[in-house]
Amino acid sequence: MQDYKQKSKQSFDLQAETYDHDKNGLHARNQYQAILEKVKDFPLGKVLDVGCGTGVLLEQLLKVYGGSANQFFGLDLSKKMLEIADSRLAEKVTLVQGDAETLPFADCTFDTILCCDSFHHYPNPQQAIIEFCRVIKTNGRLLISDYWKPSPIRQIMNLFLPYSNDGDVKIYSQKEIMAFLETVHFDVTCYEHTNSSSYIVIAKKGF
Ligand SMILES: C[S@@+](CC[C@H](N)C(=O)[O-])C[C@H]1O[C@@H](n2cnc3c(N)ncnc32)[C@H](O)[C@@H]1O
Repeated sequence: MQDYKQKSKQSFDLQAETYDHDKNGLHARNQYQAILEKVKDFPLGKVLDVGCGTGVLLEQLLKVYGGSANQFFGLDLSKKMLEIADSRLAEKVTLVQGDAETLPFADCTFDTILCCDSFHHYPNPQQAIIEFCRVIKTNGRLLISDYWKPSPIRQIMNLFLPYSNDGDVKIYSQKEIMAFLETVHFDVTCYEHTNSSSYIVIAKKGF
């Protein structure tokens, strides 16, 4: 378990300086337009970006939704990714180094949680979802966007993924994602393949 997190931390610390311009960040960058489109319908409020990396998604959200009604937070394991995020966002966003599986926030803190291209790094994804559910308010929205591939490519990739240097764990099927969310009473309102290698899932926390 810790081995995956150690690998993620080391790898993203190393990639941080170049992540925004090279292929490492490309898959995530290709998701931002679809994410920004989806959150148009959200009452954003207090927003946490889990695995925020260098903060580009937060920067784009700030440009459009940076009014006084919304507050933005970013959390990441990698200190170096957060340093880049800090230089980009200055004091407009609260940045915290931490782990998605043990979020350092009180219960019912956020109206919105976003997680872009980070979920497949979590060795205990169900625990991350439990934490998302704990820190989000009732009726709050969770949006996860991540890698996806159809079967059998996904299963083949999953055989090799644990050996990656980036701490990749697994690419999930729609069924697996739904099961994680439904275990903690998130109501899924949308599941979509936004391109041939990505999905977005949106869920609302019920009572
Ligand atoms: C592919 S990058 C995506 C970064 C960013 N969301 C983006 O849109 O570019 C994955 C990020 O997840 C972070 N990460 C990996 N495991 C994590 C964990 N357990 N808790 C928090 N962040 C984690 C990595 O440090 C890295 O910054």
